[in-house]
Amino acid sequence: MSDGSKLGLGGHSFIEQLGNDPPASFEEQCALVAVCLDNGIRLIDTTYYQERVALGKVLHRLGRRDEARIMAWNFFRQEGQEDDLVPFTPYEPHHLDVMLRELQTDRLDVLVVHVHADRERLVRELELAQEWKESGAVRSVALGMVEPSYLDDLPEGHPVSAVLAPYNAFKRGAAESFERARALGFQTIALSPFIRGWKLDEIGGDKAHVSDVLLRWVAAQSLVDTVIVSMRRADWVTANLASERRGPLTDEEEAELQRWLARVG
Ligand SMILES: NC(=O)c1ccc[n+]([C@@H]2O[C@H](COP(=O)([O-])OP(=O)(O)OC[C@H]3O[C@@H](n4cnc5c(N)ncnc54)[C@H](OP(=O)(O)O)[C@@H]3O)[C@@H](O)[C@H]2O)c1
Repeated sequence: MSDGSKLGLGGHSFIEQLGNDPPASFEEQCALVAVCLDNGIRLIDTTYYQERVALGKVLHRLGRRDEARIMAWNFFRQEGQEDDLVPFTPYEPHHLDVMLRELQTDRLDVLVVHVHADRERLVRELELAQEWKESGAVRSVALGMVEPSYLDDLPEGHPVSAVLAPYNAFKRGAAESFERARALGFQTIALSPFIRGWKLDEIGGDKAHVSDVLLRWVAAQSLVDTVIVSMRRADWVTANLASERRGPLTDEEEAELQRWLARVG
């Protein structure tokens, strides 16, 4: 999944609905993606349709589509709710063309199938994903918001080769899914190292230090192949790459993290 860096860019970087600051301008988004690509962050996540539209425009302007690895989830534009963040929709045959058009591309590098309780429908989605993969328009398929039971139930001939789930110092429940995924030979993608940045605010103090410790905790986990982090500033890219390079926490930093966890949970 990752080349050069374990980090991937989160699509929430492109929209204002999930951020703490005003959205990055188009020029800032272009600068952000360029810095990522220049520094070995090639995997770019897009969850909501607004993110696909934004990334499509950015990669088109930069002329760097081939350098990026685009990951896309099944959250679609809904009539009358164009500005909203709507729930996911199980895949249907027409969805692939919609996604490709929004992203201004002819292929998705990672198609994410959001899991849900209707197992028969999920199996049909995986069959569709397999067809898309055979057509060449989808390069690989991942299960999003995975839980262990989904990995036990995968149908014969399924196309899944990676799993995604929120996994960070505060929320470690996905470890079991990641272990099972690894046993099946899948890649593991951890989402949300700072829980939308809220944990940085709750812990307070020196944000650069807090983000460094939280990111290093997850990036150093041997169970994790890739960490998706949302960044609206090019400066965060440099800072987060430096954190990744610093490697695992020292005993002192681990003790400090434990104190934060005891305080903010
Ligand atoms: N959480 C989920 O359930 C979920 C589900 C599906 C997909 N995802 C994917 O996971 C990605 C990341 O998750 P998330 O949205 O929870 O966000 P996150 O990556 O945990 O946190 C993002 C926040 O951290 C701030 N930040 C990043 N680097 C920083 C640094 N070095 N110093 C200070 N602040 C820094 C960003 O600030 P700025 O606002 O200034 O950039 C932003 O506000 C999403 O974009 C999405 O692609 C998550």
